[in-house]
Amino acid sequence: MLSRSANKYLLVCVCVFILFYVFSHISGPKGMASCPQPSKETSIIGSDGNLYNYNRQSPLIFIGGVPRSGTTLMRAMLDAHPDVRCGEETRVVPRLLQMRSHWMKSQKESLRLQEAGLTGDVLDSAISSFILEVVAKHAEPAKRLCNKDPFTLKSGSYLKQLFPNGKFLFMVRDGRASVHSIITRKVTITGFDLKSYRQCLQKWNTAITAMNEQCKELGPDHCLPVYYEQLVLHPEKWLRKILKFLDLPWNDAVLHHEQQINKKGGVSLSKVERSSDQVIKPINLDALSKWVGHIPQDVLDDMADVAPMLAHFGYDPAGNPPNYGKPDQFVIDNTHDIQEHDDEWEEIADRVKKLSKKDTMPRAGVKDSINDFDQ
Ligand code: A3P
Repeated sequence: MLSRSANKYLLVCVCVFILFYVFSHISGPKGMASCPQPSKETSIIGSDGNLYNYNRQSPLIFIGGVPRSGTTLMRAMLDAHPDVRCGEETRVVPRLLQMRSHWMKSQKESLRLQEAGLTGDVLDSAISSFILEVVAKHAEPAKRLCNKDPFTLKSGSYLKQLFPNGKFLFMVRDGRASVHSIITRKVTITGFDLKSYRQCLQKWNTAITAMNEQCKELGPDHCLPVYYEQLVLHPEKWLRKILKFLDLPWNDAVLHHEQQINKKGGVSLSKVERSSDQVIKPINLDALSKWVGHIPQDVLDDMADVAPMLAHFGYDPAGNPPNYGKPDQFVIDNTHDIQEHDDEWEEIADRVKKLSKKDTMPRAGVKDSINDFDQ
């Protein structure tokens, strides 16, 4: 039997424990102590019968960069890895991030949200659940989930706050090539004037500056810049580096992504994304210097001032034609093979554009456009 004082002592201890438990498990409305909640789980049963669980601690992979910088090629190479699934662009993830960025930029709006009880914790929990749900459920689950929506990198630091173990691949490409691709392929991006090389190069410069800042803030353990030209010239060297950065085991399949197109567990392609008919091909050199001879002379003359980030990333603004380096034999062979069988590749590209694994009816009139943050 316990003495009366011991009983009292026990009662006080039990009360303190209950109060502590209640306060640490309830994040109530304004004014009540707000404690971090255990991360919510998103669970999916794959077609392999396995159960996949994801939460905010999952090491998600984010691929970003200015559009037309090889982001689809990068994701296709990772999709070919048996442990990874990226899939098509979600488009809604960058939009939600853009919306939040607008709320945060407006002092009045953030105050109103705070007053309404939408504190940072509440928003973070809601936004992370939305992203996780979309990224996890828009395609087959896999050990590692990956998202490729080029502009999400502009919110890199915030994404890391939501997903602290997230890893970011920052695709960097010669801005002259990206802009030439945007203009000739008529890829509409908010803020880019497709009639002007000068204006597009300036926009490229602004966008890549913002992404570079984010990548620096993320730090080398979380963000790896991947140069499109180097990936194309030396795929094995770069893919080894990339997989090591992502803590993924080496797998030869990443060098042959074209063999996995629209196969189960492979590279699922969209028929409305602009890069689908290029990414069906093995890694090749065709796109490297296509821009040469197409940029107006007055823009070439001012290149160092129009796009100072070119020099920052080691591209010679006066290099015309550029010297990106000597390719591996493997890529030279791929490129020759593609050139020799041009007709066959065109046929395959047409088929991919018309058919996707989700929908066998060609959908006429669906155009791809990319919405950027206001700059
Ligand atoms: P071009 O339009 O200059 O041809 P993104 O996917 O970020 O929009 O990038 C598109 C660029 O990636 C395209 O550049 C395209 O040619 C290039 N690309 C796609 N698949 C490729 C492959 N298999 N080998 C080399 N480059 C590829």
